[in-house]
Amino acid sequence: MTKLLSVRLVAILIGLGFAIVALYSFVLGAYSAATEEAPDHLPYEDPIDFAFSFDGLFGTWDQAQLQRGLKVYDEVCSACHSLKYVAFRNLEQLGYSEAQAKAYAAAKQVPGIDPATGEETMRPGLPTDYFPAPYPNAVAAAAANNNAIPPDLSLITKARGDGTNYVASLLVGYQEPSARMLEEHPEAAPGPGLYHNIYFPNLNLAMAPPLTSTGQVTYDDGTEATIEQMSKDVAAFLAWTAEPTLVKRKQTGWPVLIFLLFATVLAWFSKKQIWAAVKPKRQD
Ligand code: HEC
Repeated sequence: MTKLLSVRLVAILIGLGFAIVALYSFVLGAYSAATEEAPDHLPYEDPIDFAFSFDGLFGTWDQAQLQRGLKVYDEVCSACHSLKYVAFRNLEQLGYSEAQAKAYAAAKQVPGIDPATGEETMRPGLPTDYFPAPYPNAVAAAAANNNAIPPDLSLITKARGDGTNYVASLLVGYQEPSARMLEEHPEAAPGPGLYHNIYFPNLNLAMAPPLTSTGQVTYDDGTEATIEQMSKDVAAFLAWTAEPTLVKRKQTGWPVLIFLLFATVLAWFSKKQIWAAVKPKRQD
């Protein structure tokens, strides 16, 4: 009896010890997180919340928007940015037919090999080809862009915090630095070949504003191509290139959750049934 009691007492003390250590480190962590000084950074803005159709638990793609975004990428961004993880056949997921994807590919020139001489040449794309890069290599890309290499855009919305909103915000975020900003942060003045953008963490980037006027792209569905519209559309398109299965992932989640709930109820009932015959033993 006393032996059992002392074992329990030790177990309780050990448990208590762990709980106190856990609580102590939690309080310490919370305290330092709450009182930590913000790092000394330039006052860039958090991205605007554009409320995309695929946000939230029930989000879905807006296919017309993805098609418009492809057009913006195609006519504007592809001059400098590659999209190396997207193949032309993937465009069928945007609602294009196999023939349309094939025609789209055939209209692009991709690097190939001359079958007669083995020399490198350009040939029309096939559905299995990937979007061709605008520059032959990184040196050429840097040389053409004031020493900044335009990053591949396939995964860019995953590579930045709040990526889809960030890309759209960046495209609408070019403006002259305010007088107050220049007074408080003289280092925020754009250097040569740099452009001021309130959403870029160091406030100046080497990309000239790519979207500058309404109607820069002519949309097939008649949507008015304002700068904000084009920015949102291309950002949505880049959310799709980064995670084509996003909507499917969300849709799969619900049946899984419902199934798990159902399985838990079943498990509870079978547990009750299995143990029903076992009477609790009296302990005295
Ligand atoms: C004339 C060439 C050019 C065009 C056209 C262009 N970009 Fe860029 N882009 C650049 C360069 C250069 C950089 C690198 C900027 C830097 O690091 O300072 C860049 C950087 C970016 C970045 C990364 C910013 C970051 O957080 O690092 C994104 C996103 C981007 N561009 C999106 C686009 C989109 C979308 C379009 C089409 C609407 C586009 N760009 C058109 C040259 C271009």
